[in-house]
Amino acid sequence: MQLIIAFILIIFLLSVKGQIPQLPNYSCNENDVSIQLTLSSLSHSAWNSISNCSLQQCNVNSNNNSCFSSSTHCFDYRSINNTRYCAPAISCSILERCDNITQTCSTNNSICVINSCCSSQAVCLPLVTTTMCEKGWLYTNNMTNARTQHKASVLPNGRILITGGYTGNNVALNTAELYDLPTGTWITTGRLADARWIHTSSVLLDGKILVAGGFNGNISLNSAELYDQSTGTWTTTGNMTHTRHVHTACTLSSGLVLVTGGLDNSGFALNTAELYNSSTGTWTSTGNTIDTRYWHTASALSNGKVLVTGGEAGGASNTTELYDSSTGTWTATGYMITARYAHTASVLSNGKVLVTGGFNSIALDSAELYDPSTGTWAATGNMSDARYLHTASVLLNGKVLVTGGFNSIALDSAELYDPSTGTWTHIDSMANPRFFHTASVLSNGLILIAGGDNNNALNSAELY
Ligand SMILES: *[C@@H]1O[C@H](CO)[C@@H](O)[C@H](O)[C@H]1NC(C)=O
Ligand SMILES: *[C@@H]1O[C@H](CO)[C@@H](O)[C@H](O)[C@H]1NC(C)=O
Ligand SMILES: *[C@@H]1O[C@H](CO)[C@@H](O)[C@H](O)[C@H]1NC(C)=O
Ligand SMILES: *[C@@H]1O[C@H](CO)[C@@H](O)[C@H](O)[C@H]1NC(C)=O
Ligand SMILES: *[C@@H]1O[C@H](CO)[C@@H](O)[C@H](O)[C@H]1NC(C)=O
Ligand SMILES: *[C@@H]1O[C@H](CO)[C@@H](O)[C@H](O)[C@H]1NC(C)=O
Ligand SMILES: *[C@@H]1O[C@H](CO)[C@@H](O)[C@H](O)[C@H]1NC(C)=O
Ligand SMILES: *[C@@H]1O[C@H](CO)[C@@H](O)[C@H](O)[C@H]1NC(C)=O
Ligand SMILES: *[C@@H]1O[C@H](CO)[C@@H](O)[C@H](O)[C@H]1NC(C)=O
Ligand SMILES: *[C@@H]1O[C@H](CO)[C@@H](O)[C@H](O)[C@H]1NC(C)=O
Ligand SMILES: *[C@@H]1O[C@H](CO)[C@@H](O)[C@H](O)[C@H]1NC(C)=O
Ligand SMILES: *[C@@H]1O[C@H](CO)[C@@H](O)[C@H](O)[C@H]1NC(C)=O
Repeated sequence: MQLIIAFILIIFLLSVKGQIPQLPNYSCNENDVSIQLTLSSLSHSAWNSISNCSLQQCNVNSNNNSCFSSSTHCFDYRSINNTRYCAPAISCSILERCDNITQTCSTNNSICVINSCCSSQAVCLPLVTTTMCEKGWLYTNNMTNARTQHKASVLPNGRILITGGYTGNNVALNTAELYDLPTGTWITTGRLADARWIHTSSVLLDGKILVAGGFNGNISLNSAELYDQSTGTWTTTGNMTHTRHVHTACTLSSGLVLVTGGLDNSGFALNTAELYNSSTGTWTSTGNTIDTRYWHTASALSNGKVLVTGGEAGGASNTTELYDSSTGTWTATGYMITARYAHTASVLSNGKVLVTGGFNSIALDSAELYDPSTGTWAATGNMSDARYLHTASVLLNGKVLVTGGFNSIALDSAELYDPSTGTWTHIDSMANPRFFHTASVLSNGLILIAGGDNNNALNSAELY
């Protein structure tokens, strides 16, 4: 990550030209991704010896674009056609030269970098995605299937697995696809035994993905299945005791997966909870939550407990409860200031839990923090936009990115929460308004937004 940040910073310092003869105004700041360089997803590909990397390298430790020779720190660049270039930060000899009059490149897959380490000669840098700054959002390839109310999990190999979802006309999907980070492409990967939406997707300690429950257009499901990234195949595993959709699933440090609440096949809200043990492939009940709930959240805290918040329970709920996995029991903890469902909950690096937005007669802009050491909730800054059915992702720098959601219409807006100040900053909007989408933190720190709803199920994806 540091290498990638360093590299993006280098690019910030260089003058860059795209295909457009008119130079755009660049106003990059910390929150912008000025140019997406798809380096290898392998964090140490810098030491790949695909070719001789003894080339001139920009000095990443200084802001003056000075260069030095190095036989290490070679990056694995990939062009859109997956051609690999092993080169130091910017190599001169490997790279196509820009047209010396228009300062453009012959393909749209490269950008012209002037004032690079290649001194007087402007060079074309091959990229998977070429998006100039002004926006922190990057376009990436469309998914194979348009889908909403699907789920996403980050695999141990860095790929993102997208499963199931709704396409409209009461049709559930049984397809799954992978987002491949180095190439920015989507790869279909097997089929689920059961088509489903509003299910859950959990990463097990052995790297398999457990998909459980959901709705298939006719019925609520109790079935569960496992995805194996090494074979790209799906196998069914034990059924849950209860059918459920709009439930939650959370992987405990023991490796068990805790599933809570949801709606059953009759549309009744559940207070049941159960645990999946991957060594037996079976589910066992583990106490009942104090309240029935669906459209709630469940978060594994750093102290080993699980915090369940709010949800729909004959109206929006302000109650929260804790699961103690050592005793298998549930106890009430502090009331949220605002009752809410279809909200988000994120565990911050300081151990507190940030709850944002949701619905309670109206869409909510409020946010609050749970302190596990006191069991109490405190208000924090309000978002600029009220929203529910949105996403919240903890970035590698500790900030929280909130995207999209619904408030009478699908929203394209995005905001960043800074835990150190408790404030929100409105950032550039996504290209597409969306709710019921997914947001996944990639290993390189970018956030992949995929699919969702804007009157129709969406196939589009974007990176922040
Ligand atoms: C850059 O900004 C200036 C002043 O804000 C504006 O006049 C100009 O049109 C902008 N150029 C582009 C390419 O947007
Ligand atoms: C790499 O290049 C350097 C400098 O040109 C040379 O000394 C070295 O032998 C080369 N290494 C390999 C493995 O080709
Ligand atoms: C540029 O940075 C290098 C390494 O930090 C330093 O040796 C050199 O003096 C700097 N040059 C200028 C012009 O600041
Ligand atoms: C990929 O594109 C580069 C030019 O950008 C070209 O030289 C190379 O042959 C292409 N490779 C493949 C496999 O198409
Ligand atoms: C531009 O490049 C062409 C050929 O690549 C060369 O003949 C010409 O002298 C160059 N012009 C300048 C101003 O460098
Ligand atoms: C680059 O993109 C522009 C605008 O999308 C398009 O007009 C042009 O044909 C493209 N050039 C190449 C070489 O693909
Ligand atoms: C993505 O799909 C939309 C339609 O859903 C289409 O308009 C757009 O051109 C596609 N983009 C790419 C890069 O294929
Ligand atoms: C739902 O029920 C209809 C009518 O019985 C049937 O055609 C359809 O295949 C069912 N869908 C699923 C996903 O089971
Ligand atoms: C799961 O339940 C379904 C019916 O809901 C049944 O057809 C299936 O055989 C069960 N699977 C297992 C592994 O018990
Ligand atoms: C899972 O089940 C196995 C076999 O019954 C048991 O040995 C193991 O302790 C269970 N795992 C957990 C985390 O409880
Ligand atoms: C929680 O909600 C209930 C019912 O909506 C309300 O009666 C109660 O006062 C609320 N509790 C707190 C502490 O806000
Ligand atoms: C946040 O918004 C709520 C209403 O949604 C309002 O009561 C509260 O005063 C606001 N808090 C701040 C810090 O602006």
